[in-house]
Amino acid sequence: MSRPLFILLAISWIAQSVFAQQTFNLSQLQWHLTNSYGNVSIPASFPSQIHLDLYAAGIIGDPLYGMGDFDQLWVQRANWTYSTILSGLDTPLPSSVWLVFEGLDTFTHIELCGQEVANTDNQFRQFFFEVSSIILQCQSELTLSLNFGSASAIVLDIAKTGDGKLIILTFTGKIYMRKEQSDFGWDWSPAFAPAGPWKQAFLIQLSTAAPLYIHNALVDIYREGQMNNLPPDQTKPFVFNASLDFFGDLPTGSSLYLELKDSSNKTITETQLDGISHNNETITGHTTIDSEMVELWWPNGFGSQPLYYATITIRDVNLDPFAVVQRRVGFRTVVLNLTPISNDQLALGIAPGSNWHFEVNGHEIYAKGSNMVPPDVFWARVNETKIRQLFNSVVMANQNMLRVWSSGAYLPNFAYDIADEMGILLWSEFEFSDAEYPTDPSYLANYEAEAYYNIRRVGHHPSLALWAGGNELEAIELAFFFNPTNPGTVLKQYQLVFEELLIKCVYANVKSISYIPSSTYNGYLSLDFDSIRPQLPRYNNRSSPDALYADTDAYSDNAATAFDINSYPVGRFADEFGIISMPSLESWQEVIPEDQLSFDSAQVLHRNRHYPFGASGSDDDLSRAGIAVMTDGVKLWYPRPYKSDPVANFSAWAWSTQVYQADYYAHQLAFYRRGSGMRERQLGVLYWQLEDLWVAPTWSSIEANGRHKVLYYSAKDIYEPVIIFPYLNDTTQKLEVWVTSDQWESISGVAQFSWFDLAGNELLLPGDSQSGEAGTNTSSFETSFNVGPINSTRVLTYNNISALFQTTGTTSISAVSINNAQPWRGSSQQSQYTHTYWFHPTSLANCDLLDPGLNLTRGQLQADSGDNSPNKGTASQQSVTFTVTAQKAVAAWVWLDYSSSQVQGLFDNNGFWLNKAESINVTFMVYNDWTGDGSWINSVVVRSLYDNLVD
Ligand SMILES: *[C@@H]1O[C@H](CO)[C@@H](O)[C@H](O)[C@H]1NC(C)=O
Ligand SMILES: *[C@@H]1O[C@H](CO)[C@@H](O)[C@H](O)[C@H]1NC(C)=O
Ligand SMILES: *[C@@H]1O[C@H](CO)[C@@H](O)[C@H](O)[C@H]1NC(C)=O
Ligand SMILES: *[C@@H]1O[C@H](CO)[C@@H](O)[C@H](O)[C@H]1NC(C)=O
Ligand SMILES: *[C@@H]1O[C@H](CO)[C@@H](O)[C@H](O)[C@H]1NC(C)=O
Repeated sequence: MSRPLFILLAISWIAQSVFAQQTFNLSQLQWHLTNSYGNVSIPASFPSQIHLDLYAAGIIGDPLYGMGDFDQLWVQRANWTYSTILSGLDTPLPSSVWLVFEGLDTFTHIELCGQEVANTDNQFRQFFFEVSSIILQCQSELTLSLNFGSASAIVLDIAKTGDGKLIILTFTGKIYMRKEQSDFGWDWSPAFAPAGPWKQAFLIQLSTAAPLYIHNALVDIYREGQMNNLPPDQTKPFVFNASLDFFGDLPTGSSLYLELKDSSNKTITETQLDGISHNNETITGHTTIDSEMVELWWPNGFGSQPLYYATITIRDVNLDPFAVVQRRVGFRTVVLNLTPISNDQLALGIAPGSNWHFEVNGHEIYAKGSNMVPPDVFWARVNETKIRQLFNSVVMANQNMLRVWSSGAYLPNFAYDIADEMGILLWSEFEFSDAEYPTDPSYLANYEAEAYYNIRRVGHHPSLALWAGGNELEAIELAFFFNPTNPGTVLKQYQLVFEELLIKCVYANVKSISYIPSSTYNGYLSLDFDSIRPQLPRYNNRSSPDALYADTDAYSDNAATAFDINSYPVGRFADEFGIISMPSLESWQEVIPEDQLSFDSAQVLHRNRHYPFGASGSDDDLSRAGIAVMTDGVKLWYPRPYKSDPVANFSAWAWSTQVYQADYYAHQLAFYRRGSGMRERQLGVLYWQLEDLWVAPTWSSIEANGRHKVLYYSAKDIYEPVIIFPYLNDTTQKLEVWVTSDQWESISGVAQFSWFDLAGNELLLPGDSQSGEAGTNTSSFETSFNVGPINSTRVLTYNNISALFQTTGTTSISAVSINNAQPWRGSSQQSQYTHTYWFHPTSLANCDLLDPGLNLTRGQLQADSGDNSPNKGTASQQSVTFTVTAQKAVAAWVWLDYSSSQVQGLFDNNGFWLNKAESINVTFMVYNDWTGDGSWINSVVVRSLYDNLVD
């Protein structure tokens, strides 16, 4: 006679819908965390990761403070157990009970009532297990325990060869686990190797009324006849393909129904799906949707983002619905076009080779964006607010694409949802990076299950732009080992995983999304959907020396060539480039003691993980070499800060490294954008890297606490739709000014040029007798221009700018403004574009900057209202406008700053230049006002590069 059965509090069961099975969220239970040493036993959160619970319980300090990553190594070397008791009322035993885990990080031994349920070994998979018989037989309390083994210890055991050295980039064991690879250190990341139940978990009860549970659902929307990687026929209707993954029993004769509603709940269509197929795990069907029935979804800057609610029900033979799933979808096509350059394109002057660009709804788009790394060391605490603020910063900076770098983690659904709303294309990757990965059958099976799950999980999001096999595999990992005559195992492993397995997973599940094996990719020689290797890779098989096939990923630390356009790579698309800078003083103050605020302190050296290529010595020596990359740039190009107060000096230097970084990126971004009108037909740039997950010298444009670096604003400026920019060829001293547009209409307008001295006096425009293009002896110069769709055009040339300055005796006069490019579309003048860029032919280090007499006027808090509010969806929806005036002279790199302990938010403009007597309004959008009453406004200050010279 068995004792009464325990199951959960009936009152806590939440019905997902009228017909869904009962679903209980395990985060509602009391959880407990213990370790293998037996010295920790504390309450725990769920979902969670161990460090977060230890920190909450006061066992450890803030992991991100000080030397936390080093001092807390003991945490990742222990085994930890999360446990809870499934207790409650006696109720009749459900017919079938399952556990569903949305994410377990990573090596987990699961027990229920002391019985083994399963062992898992993949952070990126969903797992589900039937536990009915364990519950039935349980003679004690229903204890659920999740034991997390030490990932680094486990893989070192597997690898045997591992170096065991954490806190550096090269922890060799990481390839043996399906776990976020940057958890083991990267050149912008510490190595916490967190563990724990990082996503939600559920207990599911099936019954005769609800015989199955839909645990994942794919919706793939594409144009009829569309094939992966190929531009579809935009005149065809859309196909809506739904494929639901379930456990439990599918009654015979089941059918699928779709109800599609728009965002105002108006029904667009209600229909039975055709072509139903099913097995014991999946049911699939499709229908067509005429283009006229729906509005197209566009990326940021190209149109709106209409979204639709798709409700898919499974119905029994009597057409009664018994299971339902809802997905919010959008209608668009997005293709990474790698087809050969056509004769028509060649006739336009485009270099032979292959295309390498994105097309949305049949339009080429210029991709402007950045690379996203994990937004926190601990994913379990990344919430919607965090992602909404981050993505808000992305769209406010004129970006339309993020490359979600591998090897962090696949983004959660809510991040794709926010990207859908904001129009951010997400170039997504499988989690493999810069290494060769094991290919034993058990590993391949694990990769395959992971890829299937994630492809199906996010397939319905219109923001999903691409699947790439991994990071820097072909151009870096493979190129390094590639030997055409003896390809060896490295090539074979690469082919197996990235050219056969993962592509199969994508092509088998979705038709709407393109696949490339590696973020850097020379494209394919042929595409054969019936082959086990559908893309026959080009590798280094070039048809001609001047052909271009690939995207670029290139870094240089050389300060001397930082602004030399000859040093920038020429390709079809730039997916990575950059240079490091320091976080701001305020960020440093939050994480290290005051006595560590210097470029050479132990803790700053410890946090810098950028070790330049070719550097040698101890870790500290390597770190010093990395830090010198920043300071060398400052010394060469800007007035060198000297302040007797050591903290003020540290702050001025840190900020100056940000100016150097911003200046460098602006030049390189503008170079790539101009390429849209050059023979390379360059159609996209994603800078490295959007944001930080801790306070350290890195490539980021947004610091870990949400403060925006100077780079953020410079990139925003160069990402304006229509820009004017000067390009100086260091070799020839030829200066060319170009206008670049990413709009689909031709743009015409007027470009103006004026030269000033540093006091702001307008100078006679230096003429060039050789080119005669620029005119002579006038104080300013105008030229009208017309720039084609996604194109660039030259508007001014000086054949030798340095000779010119010598002959006109103006070498020390070093500021020129090129302003008011005011193009418009046709004659309607509906869209006007203005862009200004300040150019100086000599390094600012060699200029005698004058005191600009900056004046700051502070406005009042204003409530933003309506859908056009730029910080829609963020906490406060308030803004304040400041007015900055340069009263006395030209101001270089004007910078408004605020106290991040008082307020969090974003300026609409910063890091700009002002002419003498020029005023500018700058609006700060408030995300969080910690002062509660706007008193943070008084802490806003302004400075410029001139302040480097003032003690
Ligand atoms: C962790 O668990 C594994 C497997 O159960 C065991 O071999 C290892 O000794 C444990 N480590 C510690 C530190 O307890
Ligand atoms: C649409 O309907 C759902 C319930 O079916 C409701 O929660 C939601 O508020 C409605 N939306 C609009 C815009 O009416
Ligand atoms: C479905 O059937 C296959 C083969 O018959 C079996 O291996 C698999 O475990 C079944 N899956 C489920 C969820 O029952
Ligand atoms: C989201 O996370 C942030 C930290 O990034 C935290 O301050 C905030 O309270 C969280 N918001 C919610 C709604 O949990
Ligand atoms: C700079 O000028 C040299 C010499 O004319 C030329 O070969 C080179 O292509 C130019 N660089 C760029 C980026 O246009």
